[in-house]
Amino acid sequence: MKILVINGPNLNMLGIREPKHYGKETYGDLINKIKQHADLIGVSVEFRQSNHEGDLVDYIQSAYRNFDGIVINPGAYTHTSIAILDAVKSVGVPTVEVHISDVNAREDFRKISYIRAACVLTISGHGTDGYLEAIDFLVQGAQK
Ligand code: DQA
Repeated sequence: MKILVINGPNLNMLGIREPKHYGKETYGDLINKIKQHADLIGVSVEFRQSNHEGDLVDYIQSAYRNFDGIVINPGAYTHTSIAILDAVKSVGVPTVEVHISDVNAREDFRKISYIRAACVLTISGHGTDGYLEAIDFLVQGAQK
């Protein structure tokens, strides 16, 4: 099983940006944590990160016929991007939306998610463990 893990804008700043919301782990720590988990359960993972909306659309499209699942934290584009929603709908690859912080407990604008409508699951507020839970969910779905 092959899973593509996509992170959107400012997630490269993990460990520096607003630790009260996003914790102290860096983006590199996050990648290592996901890799370790994926190795343990025998899943292949690849990683992409960009601060640009169009890049995120390209990454999602690249999953078509190449990946069995997508885990995506679109960052702030969650709350604005119909293009990212449409990309997930286009490829038909099971996709889990992940947020490190609990977006429902923050500003009202963070409660809106365009991408959610195209996702098999949304995980919010479980810190970086949410990425591991997302992978487990996709693996369970593929075994059914
Ligand atoms: C985030 C939540 C978003 O509202 C925010 O813009 C982010 C990160 C999260 O992981 O909690 O960049 O997606």
